[in-house]
Amino acid sequence: MENKVTLHDKTFKLFIPNEKIEKAIDEVAGRLNRDYADATDENPVILLCTLNGAIIFAAELLKRVNFPLELKACKLSSYSGTQSTGVIKTEVPLPAHLEGRRVLIVEDIVDTGNTIAAMKQLLEASQVKDARICTLLVKPEVYKKDVKLDYVAMEIPNRFIVGFGLDYDELGRNIKDIYVLDD
Ligand code: IMP
Ligand code: MG
Repeated sequence: MENKVTLHDKTFKLFIPNEKIEKAIDEVAGRLNRDYADATDENPVILLCTLNGAIIFAAELLKRVNFPLELKACKLSSYSGTQSTGVIKTEVPLPAHLEGRRVLIVEDIVDTGNTIAAMKQLLEASQVKDARICTLLVKPEVYKKDVKLDYVAMEIPNRFIVGFGLDYDELGRNIKDIYVLDD
């Protein structure tokens, strides 16, 4: 693993090595396996991957969870460059027919929480039975919403990071470790 990487005009330094990320995912997956042990083939959980950032996290979870589930995806976005814009765009809409279903939202990172709050509202409007949030990362210094984050793998300070699915203007998603902006 490299100590530093450059993407576009910015340099990032190593922050969380892959082994540490994977260990945190093992723990969250263990909790999910306990909490969703009552899911059945007739009533599978909908694992809703939020594109594009959560693709790797969702894939790692899928390797570790053993309850019946259906994999779906949607895409809301609020970020441009290294800043949240606060304006939520729906780029890929929520799946249809969610009434009465149990949904587990899989998110890469919760920053201001604007995205996750919008997502929860959309799901409630779809009359789901239960919607929980599972996020790889949260920035607790920034997150002030009262939407409950049911499963959090890791907490980080208010810094801009890339890697393990997260991007800086679309670059860096395919880096195995997490890097932080070096400023
Ligand atoms: P929020 O709506 O402010 O909570 O922002 C959440 C979304 O912004 C995440 O799903 C990411 O796509 C993106 N995001 C937030 N923080 C970072 C970061 O540090 N690096 C890369 N993307 C981020
Ligand atoms: Mg995202």
